[in-house]
Amino acid sequence: MAKGIFRTKSIQDLMEEASNQKHGLRKSLSALNLTTLGIGAIIGAGIFVLTGQAAAQYAGPAIVLSFVVSAIACILAGFCYAEFASLIPISGSAYTYSYATLGEFFAWIIGWDLILEYLFAASTVSVGWSGYMVSFLKDYNIMIPVEYTNSLGTKLINLPGEGWKILTGELSNTLSAKGIALSSLPQTTAICNLPAMFIVALLTVLLVIGIKESASFNNIMVIVKVAIILIFIVAGFSFVNKINWHPFIPENKGSFGEFGFTGILRAASVIFFAYIGFDAVSTAAQEAKNPQRDMPKGILGSLGISTVLYILVALVLTGIVSYSELNVPDPVAVGVNKMGDTMFWLRPIIKIAALAGLSSVILVMMLGQPRIFFSMAKDGLLPSVFAKVHPRFRTPYVSTIVTGIVAMILAGILPLAVLGELVSIGTLFAFAIVCISVLVLRRTRPDLPRPFKTPWVPFVPALGALVCIIQMAALPVETWLRLLVWLVIGLVIYFLYGTRHSKQRIAEKTR
Ligand code: ALA
Repeated sequence: MAKGIFRTKSIQDLMEEASNQKHGLRKSLSALNLTTLGIGAIIGAGIFVLTGQAAAQYAGPAIVLSFVVSAIACILAGFCYAEFASLIPISGSAYTYSYATLGEFFAWIIGWDLILEYLFAASTVSVGWSGYMVSFLKDYNIMIPVEYTNSLGTKLINLPGEGWKILTGELSNTLSAKGIALSSLPQTTAICNLPAMFIVALLTVLLVIGIKESASFNNIMVIVKVAIILIFIVAGFSFVNKINWHPFIPENKGSFGEFGFTGILRAASVIFFAYIGFDAVSTAAQEAKNPQRDMPKGILGSLGISTVLYILVALVLTGIVSYSELNVPDPVAVGVNKMGDTMFWLRPIIKIAALAGLSSVILVMMLGQPRIFFSMAKDGLLPSVFAKVHPRFRTPYVSTIVTGIVAMILAGILPLAVLGELVSIGTLFAFAIVCISVLVLRRTRPDLPRPFKTPWVPFVPALGALVCIIQMAALPVETWLRLLVWLVIGLVIYFLYGTRHSKQRIAEKTR
């Protein structure tokens, strides 16, 4: 038993699986599609929501440097993903890579962990989408009742002149300090976040209909968001007031992470979320026309383009607005407001960019998740229904629908502040394992032809793994506990189901 669960899957078997798919997934993605898929998954809530808060609370204008620090960590992992994706072009991503190197047990752990990245990220970002949609509709006097735009059980209070706000402990203290009795104001409790559920449902339908249709929708969303981000950068540069950049690194206020050098690091770990998604490209490997050649281009190209855009947006934003004013959920919109009335036309357009950006992130995350389930089911670790491909659409429709339903429920009822951190810890864990797997496979199978090679091995993968582990260590203890609980649930399922149905083990027994 113990030996069996650490059995690896041979690269030959994996290659045969990839080539033997007459009735499998449709191979239609080009290098450009893969790059836009990556940009689709990357640019979203990170830049449109988190940048402002991280600048205001931790780094000031030096958020620009935080983006550089976080990018370096991701590029190290990106090299490792590119090596594997070109070597093993199977749709399971980190799950498949660890099956080939560390064995079934670790592969299961990573596969289970990736749910935290993909499925939970889709839910998290759809809540961000809902926020932007509600604000966009409000600009046109279309109101959705607050009970249906917040997570289940959220307490809301109607403040005179300000409208409905979430009733936090801090807000109730502020009101009490002002002598306002809470009972004198209208209050209600939210039921679900309907717009978030709606966008997940809509994109699930699209994903079932086809990979080509999904990729085309993604391409349009990517063009919209990148074009508008470029307009913001170009237009914004002439509104920069250099005073806002001084001091570029505000002095530390005495505790770790509150500005200064440590603030840059803390902000880097917050905006790490902004880079999550480049690895989603690797889940579409089986649908790429020429994965060996194009996967590295898709992964590293999307990461490189997003990095440059992030640094420029951060530079312009902190140049237009004093960082202290950026602690808002829509910092880029605040930047546009600061440009004055001549740029009034850009205001709704920025919200459209955010909506497009967030839609494509949700889409690609929900494209990645079923493809990981698909690979796990092919290996017998999940019921075979998860590997069912639709006869006409040629998409893994059952796993897509299951992913959609779960993501929809999570998005509709859960408060997602906590989930953002779960997404980060889950992703960092997967990145660390992929970096370590590159080291392992270079030792165990140095002979394999590698169309793309990670440079400076062992330095790059070792440093990549180390940086990820350090970033994980910086996350709160509760997040670690939640990760552990999640992994324990996964292990129970593995030992009750996976070990009995694993195709690899069944094949070995019959040999
Ligand atoms: N990188 C993605 C985003 O920022 C998850 O929304």
